[in-house]
Amino acid sequence: MSDGTTQGEATGGDPTVGGTPAQPTPYELFGAAPFFESLVEAFYRQVAEDDVLRPMYPPDSLEGAKWRLRAFLEQYWGGPTTYSDQRGHPRLRMRHAGFAIDSVARDRWLTYMRRALDEQGLPSDQDLMLWQYLQGAAFAMQNVPDETPPGPVFDAEST
Ligand code: HEM
Repeated sequence: MSDGTTQGEATGGDPTVGGTPAQPTPYELFGAAPFFESLVEAFYRQVAEDDVLRPMYPPDSLEGAKWRLRAFLEQYWGGPTTYSDQRGHPRLRMRHAGFAIDSVARDRWLTYMRRALDEQGLPSDQDLMLWQYLQGAAFAMQNVPDETPPGPVFDAEST
């Protein structure tokens, strides 16, 4: 059947012949499931000791929360879609609405995630890509605004 010009799958999947070259997903580049497992483990090890964050999580065990964060991140970066298969659409802001996340909680979350990332030793371009995403997401999850600093009060009487 093949006349040698057929492209795509008929070439036996050779990424250099025809079609779009197979691009590894960030999920694969970072190190797939073992990477995300290690990252989330390092993150929750610190959450477990934190007086602001720990009380927000289920009191008995962090295992369920670990799974949810890991599965979500894997899916987000191009890995298996197990998170949505089991939990539906992420709707993360909505799912965080029940927790009072102020800038203190946000910054603790980010501090622990930064340390967890440092432990993984990703190449700097991959580290930056992941870190910028996590920072943006954490700021988006803050749902208790910072107090507006007191500004000058205009006093009509004294003018
Ligand atoms: C800004 C600080 C944050 C705090 C204090 C926080 C706190 C929490 C808490 C208390 C839960 C419920 C725990 C559980 O699943 O049992 C949760 C769930 C979750 N968080 Fe966060 N979170 C923060 C930021 C983030 C960010 C930036 C992401 C994603 C990049 C994220 C992803 C998730 C996911 C996927 C779940 C599980 C949602 C579900 O399926 O129910 N969180 N978070």
